[in-house]
Amino acid sequence: MKHSQDISMNLEQAIRIRRSVRGFLDKPVPDATINKAFELAQLSPSNSNVQPWQVFVASGESRNIIQKKMYELITGGDLGSPDFDYPMKFEGNYRKRQVECAAALYQEMGIARDDQLGRMNAILRNFEFFDAPHMAFVCMEKEFPQSVAVDVGMYAQTLMLAFTALGVSSCPMGAMRNHPQVPREVFGFEDNLGVLFGIAFGYEDTGIPANKTRMGRVPYTECVRFMN
Ligand SMILES: Cc1cc2nc3c(=O)[nH]c(=O)nc-3n(C[C@H](O)[C@H](O)[C@H](O)COP(=O)(O)O)c2cc1C
Repeated sequence: MKHSQDISMNLEQAIRIRRSVRGFLDKPVPDATINKAFELAQLSPSNSNVQPWQVFVASGESRNIIQKKMYELITGGDLGSPDFDYPMKFEGNYRKRQVECAAALYQEMGIARDDQLGRMNAILRNFEFFDAPHMAFVCMEKEFPQSVAVDVGMYAQTLMLAFTALGVSSCPMGAMRNHPQVPREVFGFEDNLGVLFGIAFGYEDTGIPANKTRMGRVPYTECVRFMN
């Protein structure tokens, strides 16, 4: 008998199938599946094996409280104050890719270039958690530098691949770093922990136009140089 925590997908399939999903069904993921994904993610590498990630997973009532509060803050004009810096401006090729990313998403959502209200509503979907039943707040000590955040990024990708292999969709969410005081207060975690990003997860709603988005990549040869 197949259990919710059984995996039959191979690594290449999981890597190719994973993508950011921005519309979820109102259907919680079984605890056994969630636990399996986090157990696998814990096997991620980290410098000196310090395992610097601290994750707070909001489901059910805690998820609803945090989502409602964040939505109120953002619609009230409070753009928030992240625990960690993020570049507000990308330039050159990086900016080009950033613009193409938004354009691809808005195209699937049927939002025209000059549709300011449509764009605003699309951004607000972040603060509805894309209806995901679960949100993981991925944290590390505020005093840790970017060299430690690297480890947390590796952890996050392992987690999302594990989810994919278990049939669970996800969306990594920088938008979740804007109001770190909200999960901090609900979970009661220490002030020394900072929120790096969130990961929404659940089962994909395949009827949502945003989920038709397929983000391309530049050829790997533009990012990797080989030398013998
Ligand atoms: C750290 C991080 C933060 C992200 N933040 C958001 C976000 O706040 N909202 C969103 O819709 N997508 C977010 N994304 C998803 C990216 O837009 C997405 O990974 C990228 O466009 C590539 O598409 P794919 O994940 O479908 O392959 C984020 C991705 C990462 C890695």
